[in-house]
Amino acid sequence: MQLLLPVVGLSLSGLAYATSSSAKASATTTGYLSTSSGTLQIPDGTSCACKQLAHSLPKSVLLPGSTNYTTETVDKLWDIRADLSPACVFVPNTAAEVSEAIKIIGSCGAQFAVRGGGHMNYPGANNIDAGVLIGLTNLDTITVKNDSVEVGPGLNWYQVYSALEPYGRGCIGGRMKTIGVPGLSLIGGFHYFNNKHGYAMDNVLSYDIVIGNGTLITVNKTSHSDLFWALKGGANNYGIVTKFELQTYSVPNISTTIQVFNETNIPYFLDAVCEAAKLNDDDPIAAGMIATVTYNATTKVAQGSVLGVQEGVSIPPSQFANFTKIPAVERINNVTTLKPWADTLDSPKQMMRVQFSHRTMKPDSAVLYSIYQAWKAAVDEIADVQGLYPTFVTNVISATSVRPAKTNGVGNVWGLEEEPLVIFQLSTGWDLAQDDLRVEAWSRQLVEHLHGINKNLGIASEFIYMGDAGEWQDPYAGFPAENVARMREVRSAYDPEGVFSILSWGGFKLGL
Ligand SMILES: Cc1cc2nc3c(=O)[nH]c(=O)nc-3n(C[C@H](O)[C@H](O)[C@H](O)COP(=O)(O)OP(=O)(O)OC[C@H]3O[C@@H](n4cnc5c(N)ncnc54)[C@H](O)[C@@H]3O)c2cc1C
Ligand SMILES: *[C@@H]1O[C@H](CO)[C@@H](O)[C@H](O)[C@H]1NC(C)=O
Ligand SMILES: *[C@@H]1O[C@H](CO)[C@@H](O)[C@H](O)[C@H]1NC(C)=O
Ligand SMILES: *[C@@H]1O[C@H](CO)[C@@H](O)[C@H](O)[C@H]1NC(C)=O
Ligand SMILES: *[C@@H]1O[C@H](CO)[C@@H](O)[C@H](O)[C@H]1NC(C)=O
Ligand SMILES: *[C@@H]1O[C@H](CO)[C@@H](O)[C@H](O)[C@H]1NC(C)=O
Ligand SMILES: *[C@@H]1O[C@H](CO)[C@@H](O)[C@H](O)[C@H]1NC(C)=O
Ligand SMILES: *[C@@H]1O[C@H](CO)[C@@H](O)[C@H](O)[C@H]1NC(C)=O
Ligand SMILES: *[C@@H]1O[C@H](CO)[C@@H](O)[C@H](O)[C@H]1NC(C)=O
Ligand SMILES: *[C@@H]1O[C@H](CO)[C@@H](O)[C@H](O)[C@H]1NC(C)=O
Repeated sequence: MQLLLPVVGLSLSGLAYATSSSAKASATTTGYLSTSSGTLQIPDGTSCACKQLAHSLPKSVLLPGSTNYTTETVDKLWDIRADLSPACVFVPNTAAEVSEAIKIIGSCGAQFAVRGGGHMNYPGANNIDAGVLIGLTNLDTITVKNDSVEVGPGLNWYQVYSALEPYGRGCIGGRMKTIGVPGLSLIGGFHYFNNKHGYAMDNVLSYDIVIGNGTLITVNKTSHSDLFWALKGGANNYGIVTKFELQTYSVPNISTTIQVFNETNIPYFLDAVCEAAKLNDDDPIAAGMIATVTYNATTKVAQGSVLGVQEGVSIPPSQFANFTKIPAVERINNVTTLKPWADTLDSPKQMMRVQFSHRTMKPDSAVLYSIYQAWKAAVDEIADVQGLYPTFVTNVISATSVRPAKTNGVGNVWGLEEEPLVIFQLSTGWDLAQDDLRVEAWSRQLVEHLHGINKNLGIASEFIYMGDAGEWQDPYAGFPAENVARMREVRSAYDPEGVFSILSWGGFKLGL
């Protein structure tokens, strides 16, 4: 398995990867914090919160200099750019401790950040300099029920699939092993089975959430239904979720396919991606994929790859027939289960500095191919960037993936119509901090240029997915205006003081 997959942009198990030097912060109680990148001044609000947290809940507070502090502020983050130095880290052991911490943080007026699986890949989204970091590591309980599973936000998707495996059940979560449950569930959630069951957010039955005044509430279809809706795509604007209850489905087996294509066949590969987006069966077979192109600017070799998963045991999986008919460099079909499949798809933390950016379009394979070509030519222009790791990723949104939100009586904040869309994403890795601004400028300019062409062609969509976005992109601008207005009303009702807007300012925030 390991030998054939240097093609997937997001590294698979067994691939060697560089470990970064840890951010070395030295302990302080003086109001200053020395880090590898300089001296940080600790604001009064932060000092107040760290002192009170250490007084009330000493076992749950980590200070700079301890091993576990480095684990929480560096090792658990995917993007090396996101390594920062909080004044203290609060690692709650119960939802009641989250509640107490939010009361302290709010009364002190301390800035803070919240981290689940640590995969949102930009600085500030899940970590903070000189503020309080809340690391959800220890909220890791999982309870399997007949048709659902209750999951703590300290867990990743592999842990969830592992717990469901003995029951022959699965759920709509991440496609790779170590993506966190909370971030993915709160921003949307692309999974292999979206085409049948909608997105991860559509499959959350209940949330336990600590809101801005520190109150823990249970939110579901009948209790706080306005917040229930807003949490379906509303990200980290409303509070800290301490438990998710997720719908599960019978998934005793999956039929998988791994296919790798050489450059000659990339047009056909991208055409098959567009055809998959357009599928619109009344009773779809659950099937979906990770479809990427990698390009090595040194060797000039480009390769397309699809990692496809379909429910059931039919082999080869029927929903990937348009890929299967293309001549492949490698092709492996297998019948397995979700757990071992996810086990092979790791995305190691601290692998590299990474910039995401993307745009969305109607499926037009000729245009998508020209976008790929423009990307490849643009990669050549930055070929000298040390450690360059460029990947062109596609994600499909089919009409049937949108349908559950249209019919379940709840909906979600995306408000998409039942029409096929394709996301083209640039995932660009590199080694050195000195190249941060250069790679960001490159990625931003390229993706906006390509989107401009699509607008002229009349095939652009303004939809932006938080999980694939660059930090400058505004997902809310792509949601229906009435949904954004409603999200703001819900925010006013549940967090009138702006604890989760002003004090916790990182990540994709609704804004004023
Ligand atoms: C390698 C890789 C593969 C990916 N694959 C997929 C995929 O298959 N499908 C997909 O949809 N997306 C995918 N993504 C995107 C991914 O869903 C997002 O990065 C998501 O935010 C990750 O969740 P997390 O818990 O790991 O992240 P974190 O960085 O911990 O959290 C993300 C955001 O949510 C907030 N947050 C975390 N926990 C809570 C909580 N309990 N309550 C309130 N707010 C909270 C954080 O403050 C942060 O702003 C992938 C990303 C990477 C880097
Ligand atoms: C540090 O982390 C380890 C491993 O998770 C844990 O066993 C230990 O209790 C932690 N120590 C503190 C002080 O939190
Ligand atoms: C769960 O399944 C078990 C075994 O099939 C059954 O006995 C039990 O009644 C079910 N519980 C609920 C709440 O449906
Ligand atoms: C919603 O949560 C409330 C409060 O916990 C509970 O009483 C109610 O039964 C739940 N409703 C549903 C539909 O689960
Ligand atoms: C499907 O899963 C069941 C239950 O896990 C297992 O017993 C069976 O062998 C699997 N079938 C195939 C074809 O792998
Ligand atoms: C790709 O493979 C096809 C057939 O398998 C072959 O004809 C073609 O020359 C190959 N292209 C490249 C760039 O290797
Ligand atoms: C395969 O492509 C054809 C068009 O060439 C399309 O009609 C069909 O729906 C596609 N099938 C799948 C499973 O993507
Ligand atoms: C196929 O699936 C089986 C069962 O999960 C697994 O043991 C085996 O390693 C898989 N083979 C490949 C080539 O992935
Ligand atoms: C590109 O190829 C070179 C030479 O084989 C190799 O050293 C480098 O790691 C490759 N880059 C990527 C991103 O795979
Ligand atoms: C906390 O906020 C909620 C929502 O605004 C409100 O209903 C509740 O009364 C508040 N609780 C306290 C203790 O202020």
